[in-house]
Amino acid sequence: MSQESTGKHTRRGFLDILLGGAAAGSLGTVLYPVIRYLTPLQQSGPSGPTRLSDEDIATLDENQFVIIPIAGQRVMVFRDGDNNVRALQARCTHEGCTVQYMPGESLIWCACHNGRFDINGRILSGPPPRPLPKYAVNLADDGSITVGEKTA
Ligand code: FES
Repeated sequence: MSQESTGKHTRRGFLDILLGGAAAGSLGTVLYPVIRYLTPLQQSGPSGPTRLSDEDIATLDENQFVIIPIAGQRVMVFRDGDNNVRALQARCTHEGCTVQYMPGESLIWCACHNGRFDINGRILSGPPPRPLPKYAVNLADDGSITVGEKTA
């Protein structure tokens, strides 16, 4: 009798561990992306003027914009309708979503709450409370693009 009882406890203990592990794994699968989303970006990218890589420039040419990290900030570099290269903070001033450039409409759009900015970062509509800060951009004769400090 006590051996049966021990056997049941052993099987039950094994099943408890198995179910507990599965529950913990499921919880981790759900919580990990949420925590990643809510955690601020680590300080990444160079802290000073940043030259776009060949890959960044290829993305800029293909999509009309590219987002690069500079000193832990997301910076959007884009070509406006006159083919000028501009750079704005890519973090929306409302709740921090990443904005995107809409080249056909010459505006910056935040999909989270339909915030809209003009190509100078000024608010056009939606809930953002402040404009997007600008960054200095330098185009070299060799075609390289360097993004400098915030200018506004
Ligand atoms: S986070 Fe951009 S409009 Fe709300």
